[in-house]
Amino acid sequence: MRKPLVAGNWKSNGSYAANQTLITDLMGPVGELGRVDVAICPPFVYLDQVAKLCHGGSIALGAQDVSDQDRGAYTGEVAADMLREMGCTYVIVGHSERRTLYGEDDTFTARKFAAARQHGLIPILCVGEQFWEREEGITESVVARQLDAVLALEGIEALAEAVIAYEPVWAIGTGKTATPQQAQAVHAFIRTRLEHQNPAVAQKIRIVYGGSVKADNAAELFTQPDIDGGLIGGASLKASDFLAICKAAE
Ligand code: G3H
Repeated sequence: MRKPLVAGNWKSNGSYAANQTLITDLMGPVGELGRVDVAICPPFVYLDQVAKLCHGGSIALGAQDVSDQDRGAYTGEVAADMLREMGCTYVIVGHSERRTLYGEDDTFTARKFAAARQHGLIPILCVGEQFWEREEGITESVVARQLDAVLALEGIEALAEAVIAYEPVWAIGTGKTATPQQAQAVHAFIRTRLEHQNPAVAQKIRIVYGGSVKADNAAELFTQPDIDGGLIGGASLKASDFLAICKAAE
C-alpha cells in the first residue's frame, strides 16, 4: 500500500509574517494526521524560515525548483546539495510553469531530476498536457514523452524513490479540476507504462494529482486507485483548506 503524499506548492507567495502564521496553524493538526506524508514547498528565500518553524514536527520541506548543475559559477541557480543542507526532502522538477513560462524542456527537466537524486532529494516530477493537447487527443503521448526523457537519462530504477505529479495544465489555478475519472485514466496510463519496464517500481511509485484541488473535491480524487495524494497550489496557502485536503488523503 502506497502512503499518500500531499505537498503544498506555495509558488511565488508568502511573507515572513504570513508563513509564520500558516505553519504555526498547520503544525499541531498535521502532527495528528494518520497515514499521509505532508510537505510544504515555499520559495527558496523562505526555506530557512520554514525549516526552522517545521523543526521537530511532521511537515517535510521541499523546494520548487533546483539547478541541473552542482555548485559553481551558475548565477542565480540553487544547487541540490544546498537544498539538502537547508533540510529539504523533496524538490519539484518540471512544473508546468517552469516548462511554459521559462522554456524548460524535457531534457533540461530530466537533468534537474538527476541532480536532485544525486544529492538525496526526492524529485516530484511534474507532467501534464495543455488544453489543446487534450483536445487533440494527444494527452498520453505528451505525458509519455515527458516521462521518457527521465527514463532515458536515469533508467526506471531511478523512479523507485521518486514522486510523479500529474498536472493537466488547463486545470492549474483555473478552478477547472480534471474529473476523478479523467485524472485516474492518466495516472493508470503512467503506472502501466512504468509497469512494462519494472512492475515493482510501478507499484511503489506515488503518482499525485495537481490542478485546482480543493477541500471539497480532494476526497473523490484521492479515492481513485492510482491517485496517491496531491500537489496543491492555491489551496495550500490557507491552513484550514490545506488541512482538509491532507485529511482527505489519510
Ligand atoms: O503545483 C501545484 C499546481 O500547479 C496546482 O496549482 O492548486 O493552484 O491549481 P493549483
